[in-house]
Amino acid sequence: MKLYDVYPLFDVNIVKGEGCKVWDDKGTEYLDLYGGHAVISIGHAHPKYVEKISNQVATLGFYSNSVINTLQQNVAEQLGRISGYEDYNLFFINSGAEANENALKLSSFKNGKKRVIAFKKAFHGRTSLAVEITDNPKIIAPINANGHTTYLQLGDIEGVRAEIEKGDVTAVIIEGIQGVGGVVIPDSEFLQQLQEICNATDTTLILDEIQSGCGRSGKFFAHQWAGIKPDIITQAKGIGNGFPIGVVLISPKFQAVYGELGTTFGGNHLACVAAAAVLEVMEEENLLENVNRVGEYLMEELNKIDGIKEVRGRGLMIGIEFEEPIKEIRRRLLFEEHVFTGVSGTNVIRLLPPLTLTMEQASDFMERFKRVLG
Ligand SMILES: Cc1ncc(COP(=O)(O)O)c(C=O)c1O
Repeated sequence: MKLYDVYPLFDVNIVKGEGCKVWDDKGTEYLDLYGGHAVISIGHAHPKYVEKISNQVATLGFYSNSVINTLQQNVAEQLGRISGYEDYNLFFINSGAEANENALKLSSFKNGKKRVIAFKKAFHGRTSLAVEITDNPKIIAPINANGHTTYLQLGDIEGVRAEIEKGDVTAVIIEGIQGVGGVVIPDSEFLQQLQEICNATDTTLILDEIQSGCGRSGKFFAHQWAGIKPDIITQAKGIGNGFPIGVVLISPKFQAVYGELGTTFGGNHLACVAAAAVLEVMEEENLLENVNRVGEYLMEELNKIDGIKEVRGRGLMIGIEFEEPIKEIRRRLLFEEHVFTGVSGTNVIRLLPPLTLTMEQASDFMERFKRVLG
């Protein structure tokens, strides 16, 4: 059997990682400014992460959600405290898309409505509802095109108001920072107004923090820069540092009903210790402070370079937009300078390094980047 060929691959076989570095099967070392797509938060093979998962798999790798799992309760307590959402409830799932699916289901169960407002260039995942609210017709199969979504321009508060007034909108979903859309930060005032309108109309405000959460923006969640408190927050990627985890943080406005949501693997024992390790390391190593310091340095240095159209971002989620396509720059970064970076669309390089990136590594990246730009 061969692999179903859906990914255009770089010809590199990564076999080892440590901190912010990865190595291929030929022993070449790479600086990881991509974090495996915003997934690696506390660094590759962090000793605490390795130890916790190793110990847990040797003790109990899995049991079902039909019995008490105190590891889940511990993560809920830890995540509530570190994120400032102690009064919310937590539902575990396995991926970002599933987290959004469940958020939308919760919303629709609660207010009985079906239409969703999402924003242009949004990416929310590839499962049925998640893809339907993603603004990319190429990945929406006919079976997923069920007309539930209205896409508005990011920032179009009057458009949101007008749509909600029609009376059939269950939820507004928005990324803390648009990732796939090109590292675009929603205006704080816009987020505050969204919250106000949603609160006044029993419309659920869902913040997709799957990419921008877990400290990446320099606050635990990117929306916290705007001082809002949404009804539901979805998170994945960084919370597992590579272990597949999705979580849904649910406001106390929602009343849990037995059987309404469920999952076989969500919140399994290994997932819980992975998340616990991430949260512990974030606190012990003061990663939020590191993200702000190193992110600021990168933004400053990037802004000094001529020929870049715009540098956008917060913390260690940075978009570098060029007038022209960046494919060749990214290829040279990888094969000549041995640096992994991400991309948004055709013209934006996306930096999503582990949150442990040091100043030395950031400055090393800048040297390599400048060499490629000539
Ligand atoms: C903002 C956002 N939402 C949802 C998803 C989907 O997450 P997953 O691939 O884990 O299903 C992603 C993945 O890139 C994302 O960036």
